[in-house]
Amino acid sequence: MLWLGILLFALVTNAVQIPLLNLPDEWNLNTPPNPNSTGHLIFDTVSSLLQHWPNTSHTIVPGTLTLPLGANGSPIDPEFARLFCNHDDLGGPCWILTLVTTRPLRVLYFDGSSATKMPDGPMDTQDLLAWGAVLPKRATLSWEYRRLDRLCNMGDPLGFDAYVSEVMLCNFTDGVQITSLSSLEEEPLFPHHGYSFIQSSKWHDHYPGETRVQLDLAHLVSLYDMSLAPSLVGGRVGQERRAHRVLGIDQRDTDAVIARVRAMPSSPSGSGIDWRTQFQVIRDRYATRLELLQSTLNTTGDDFLMPYRLRSAVPPPAGWDTAWAGPVFRVCARAHTSSIESVTSTLTASERLLLASAQETTREICRTLIGMWAQGMLELRASATVPDSLALEWKSEIDRLVDWLGWGVWIKCRPACASDESCYLPGAPFSMGEWNGSVPRCLRLVEPYTGLEDWLL
Ligand SMILES: *[C@@H]1O[C@H](CO)[C@@H](O)[C@H](O)[C@H]1NC(C)=O
Ligand SMILES: *[C@@H]1O[C@H](CO)[C@@H](O)[C@H](O)[C@H]1NC(C)=O
Ligand SMILES: *[C@@H]1O[C@H](CO)[C@@H](O)[C@H](O)[C@H]1NC(C)=O
Ligand SMILES: *[C@@H]1O[C@H](CO)[C@@H](O)[C@H](O)[C@H]1NC(C)=O
Ligand SMILES: *[C@@H]1O[C@H](CO)[C@@H](O)[C@H](O)[C@H]1NC(C)=O
Repeated sequence: MLWLGILLFALVTNAVQIPLLNLPDEWNLNTPPNPNSTGHLIFDTVSSLLQHWPNTSHTIVPGTLTLPLGANGSPIDPEFARLFCNHDDLGGPCWILTLVTTRPLRVLYFDGSSATKMPDGPMDTQDLLAWGAVLPKRATLSWEYRRLDRLCNMGDPLGFDAYVSEVMLCNFTDGVQITSLSSLEEEPLFPHHGYSFIQSSKWHDHYPGETRVQLDLAHLVSLYDMSLAPSLVGGRVGQERRAHRVLGIDQRDTDAVIARVRAMPSSPSGSGIDWRTQFQVIRDRYATRLELLQSTLNTTGDDFLMPYRLRSAVPPPAGWDTAWAGPVFRVCARAHTSSIESVTSTLTASERLLLASAQETTREICRTLIGMWAQGMLELRASATVPDSLALEWKSEIDRLVDWLGWGVWIKCRPACASDESCYLPGAPFSMGEWNGSVPRCLRLVEPYTGLEDWLL
């Protein structure tokens, strides 16, 4: 627990009093987040944009796409594109068209596994823009071109050149140039192409994800924004995160979302804050330490909390109230956001949403950690060890926090894969039946191939 002591000490020394933007300036360690709140969901979806593993389709972001000379178009990696020659219904020779951009393309990006034609969520946000409604029956290949036609025509006055789930270009002669058109050898999909797809998708599994697309987060639209789409709040009550849908959105909210997309400016403008880095700093700061804390609590159970003293926050001699730790909570919760809170007048509406999501997220991390620490300090007034009952309570607190945060960085192969293996999260396109699991496994990338037996048969 030494790290917790060092962290808290560092935080307490730089307390500043600035009012909060959206959250009450109230630091009771016993007030949990509202179960309807979505700040943590926005925080995780935004820090997961352009990465392969995280999986909800709730965010729409404008951006630019630049493919340096020599890079390849459509699925951006040719290892991925090669798969599309193997559809049973296509047959015939396999052609690969390689394009480069002649200027940065203005794109609209949809998060989640949004290139996957499935009726249970990935197409929701695209449908909403294309048809003004979520239409699960249209999650098929035959609707694909009509959906894109709608998006391109709807997007026309705004000038989006392409829509990105995979890259869907509106016009093949505007802003792009053909560098090659090659007929490829006919080869079986597996093992080679399937595995090269897995390798190429792995390059984008985690942060920073696909870097050839640059997002303008200052104009992001999130369907988790409770003021933009209040009609979705009720449908999420009691639902697991993977069940969250845009299906069920009402007309008023649909119109509001479309209006926000139509109002996206043609070039980035905003406060200039690098939100992706801001969010990543928070994730880096807590991800491995929470993971460690969770496993340490699990294995040692008790007497792990080393006593330490903060100069400014001292437990009272008697009683079990934790109010004395409130100032520590306040400083911890605001460590990453207070400098942005002082420039709120320069923020766009989307940036205010991002700030609030970082505030809510760090607030709950700090509430949990400092709640544990404060209890420990009270306990240690009389005894040198922490009782088993409290250790159990802490374990469930950390489990609850980790579950609430739900960060994709914790989805890992345990133990880690060997160097001739790749950590693979079952999902589209090879393991649709297994897609409801969040447990990845190691695949051998060289003979003897293992891990995708269904496809190899
Ligand atoms: C595609 O772009 C070219 C070049 O800007 C333009 O001449 C053409 O009209 C565009 N096609 C459509 C269908 O908009
Ligand atoms: C959560 O949202 C539901 C549906 O809008 C509402 O009925 C409920 O009162 C909300 N709960 C809280 C604690 O605000
Ligand atoms: C933590 O404990 C649970 C059951 O108490 C067990 O299933 C799990 O494997 C443990 N995890 C670690 C990392 O020890
Ligand atoms: C990922 O999204 C798909 C499509 O909505 C869904 O079927 C699947 O259960 C999700 N997987 C996880 C791990 O959430
Ligand atoms: C995933 O779906 C399969 C088949 O529908 C089911 O048997 C299995 O229990 C599900 N697993 C999880 C983790 O939900």
